[in-house]
Amino acid sequence: MYRRRMNSRPNKTILVLNGPNLNMLGVREPDIYGRQTLQDIKIMCVERAGELSFTIDFRQSNHEGELVTWIQEERENITGLIINAGAYTHTSLAIHDALKLLDVPIIEVHLSDPEKREEFRHFSYITPVSAKVIKGKGPAGYTEAITALSTLVKAD
Ligand code: DQA
Repeated sequence: MYRRRMNSRPNKTILVLNGPNLNMLGVREPDIYGRQTLQDIKIMCVERAGELSFTIDFRQSNHEGELVTWIQEERENITGLIINAGAYTHTSLAIHDALKLLDVPIIEVHLSDPEKREEFRHFSYITPVSAKVIKGKGPAGYTEAITALSTLVKAD
């Protein structure tokens, strides 16, 4: 299903990208996003990935262009991508276009369920380029995404 380059060594790295304001988890609207920090989520991801023999490259940026550049730079170095683009989910055609460069599976994650919130959160530029969307499950959504990615990669 996903194209794989000939002569490339098998890659076991999952890039986990987090967009704006996710660095403020723990203090940011805890009634919506909970009390766990992004560092807590990173630790959960590294642990789950280790169980499945994957490596995690976990990053956060408040800058749209930086997220675009990371997607471009890492496109040949990863076996899959998990992205919580934060508010850029609903606005960024640039991130949508960058994700189309990838020939590995993409999973969109949200801590909350944007479709159950304000109407301006209902549209996602990430969904059309994603193999799966996991939302409304809090930090557990990230580890579920790693499990799902491992299945998609194996089925490849
Ligand atoms: C979010 C949902 C977005 O609507 C919001 O802008 C965020 C976080 C989530 O994880 O629930 O920053 O992506």
